[in-house]
Amino acid sequence: MKSIIKQKYSIFFGSLGYVKLNELIKRKKYNKILILSDFNTEKYCLSHFQNQLLTTHPIVENEIINNLFYYSVTPGEISKNISESVKIINFLISNGFKRNSLIINLGGGLITDLGGFVASIFMRGIEFVNISTSLLGMIDASIGGKTGVDLNNLKNIIGSFKFAKYILIDPLFLSTLSKRQMNSGFSEMIKHSLLDSKDHWKKIKLISHHSNISEELIYDSINTKINIIENDPKESNIRKFLNFGHTLGHAIETYYLESNKEILHGEAILIGLILESFLSHKILDLELKDVLEIKDFILKFSKKISFSKQDISRIIELLKFDKKNKDENARFVLLKEIGKPSFDNLVEIKDIMEAFQFYDN
Ligand SMILES: NC(=O)c1ccc[n+]([C@@H]2O[C@H](COP(=O)([O-])OP(=O)(O)OC[C@H]3O[C@@H](n4cnc5c(N)ncnc54)[C@H](O)[C@@H]3O)[C@@H](O)[C@H]2O)c1
Repeated sequence: MKSIIKQKYSIFFGSLGYVKLNELIKRKKYNKILILSDFNTEKYCLSHFQNQLLTTHPIVENEIINNLFYYSVTPGEISKNISESVKIINFLISNGFKRNSLIINLGGGLITDLGGFVASIFMRGIEFVNISTSLLGMIDASIGGKTGVDLNNLKNIIGSFKFAKYILIDPLFLSTLSKRQMNSGFSEMIKHSLLDSKDHWKKIKLISHHSNISEELIYDSINTKINIIENDPKESNIRKFLNFGHTLGHAIETYYLESNKEILHGEAILIGLILESFLSHKILDLELKDVLEIKDFILKFSKKISFSKQDISRIIELLKFDKKNKDENARFVLLKEIGKPSFDNLVEIKDIMEAFQFYDN
């Protein structure tokens, strides 16, 4: 697989990634290196990573072995906060980390967001590398320079923009990821294809099982995200395209959280993609056959959820609290055609109700 080389960061695939990481470590002579993981990625991913990095490249082994440190956090959003960041920073200080130290984030979006954030503020910023171990991390969270933590139930409210120096994509990590977590990441892959082109969507439609998710499809998905963020790194215009499926998806996720029911982010986004594809048909004339195809495809991977009238009313109320909205009205990213998104579309409540009916039928 080709590498993606940009001015601020590089993305390497498969074994080349480890070779490049070794070269980086040798070249930069980092005084200390932290490998940050959560207990799951420590259990399932660390030994594979170490084997690839150390055993296959013994030259580096001697140089870094004494300066390698490990820190693991409890898995899940519960660890994505400022007090965990301070604990990690205290660990760095007490182990003599300096400006020329490196953090290697080995995990999903939790770890790349948390470790990237710590790296961006420790001593005014040190270098970090993202080694994504979840599908969502590979195609989304580790790419694009956004780092951050949550505060008082407000997601990603504290954060910074800082690009990882290197991003390594090793699809072998996905073999231990649960089916639900795979599906959650798959939502972003579907979204990227719909934003990108009919050809990209055609390739995604061929997937009948998560095991069909190839390195090439991961590459296509990353490339789509990069093409979108490249000209808009701080989300002032076209980066908004990435919110497709997320306006209603986030409201559904929040509704679940406040009702103490469990839903993964990507599971809510899958529903959001169906609803907002329907809205694309209503408002921008996306062809109905495309909308039906999107719905059928998504429902092959996820069970339909039934929403009562009260559920839908509350979800609509929650729309106006989405921090991405500039005013009281919900503004949606919708598709004119597959591969042709448009942002800031105002949608009426009756159309949202109709979209839920369409989802339910
Ligand atoms: N910075 C961004 O641009 C951006 C974009 C999207 C999402 N995010 C953030 O990403 C986070 C969600 O990411 P995620 O879905 O990867 O969640 P996650 O990192 O919490 O991983 C999900 C679960 O899978 C486990 N896991 C990860 N890799 C594994 C593997 N290879 N084998 C076994 N278990 C594994 C984790 O321990 C965790 O329990 C959220 O905090 C979200 O805000 C950030």
